Amino acid sequence: MPRGIVLYYSRSGNTKEMAQAIAGAMNGAGLNTECKPVDKVNPDDLPEYDAIVIGSPCYYGQMAAPIKQLIDDLVGRHGQLNGKVGGAFASSANLGGGSETTIVGILQAMLIAGMVIQGDPQGSHYGPLSIGRPDEQVKRQCERRGQRIAALTLKLSA
Ligand SMILES: Cc1cc2nc3c(=O)[nH]c(=O)nc-3n(C[C@H](O)[C@H](O)[C@H](O)COP(=O)(O)O)c2cc1C
Repeated sequence: MPRGIVLYYSRSGNTKEMAQAIAGAMNGAGLNTECKPVDKVNPDDLPEYDAIVIGSPCYYGQMAAPIKQLIDDLVGRHGQLNGKVGGAFASSANLGGGSETTIVGILQAMLIAGMVIQGDPQGSHYGPLSIGRPDEQVKRQCERRGQRIAALTLKLSA
């Protein structure tokens, strides 16, 4: 059975709320998905998942250090995430504060790992983003992204 994981770093809860919405939608769409803070994730376990979704607050336009550390710690398993489905999301304080560059930074690492990234022609093209606490519109984008990631993962695993 294919499995997914949504992992995130969050100090004040905004990214965590997004992670829960995405993971809930992935489970609702039929992909068994865990939702974990990054400090509870062992990088050695990530190759067990068919879909890996990573969320970070925007820190100076980039992913927060604990997320970057996890990615760097994957170097010993380079190649083992090849062909898995990826996705990213971010939260920032300000409009234009760097959420998109944060998402793209995570997606760049996923592409280097050989992961499969699906964009979205509607709404948040690169991945869901929130300015401050996620509102209903952001939560809908998170749910949509979770559903699309689950559908692609199930299709590729069939
Ligand atoms: C070290 C640090 C750097 C930050 N840099 C930015 C930034 O460049 N742009 C921005 O809009 N918000 C920035 N923020 C604000 C956070 O991205 C924002 O509060 C986010 O929603 C926090 O997510 P969380 O609740 O999941 O911890 C920064 C916050 C911290 C602590």
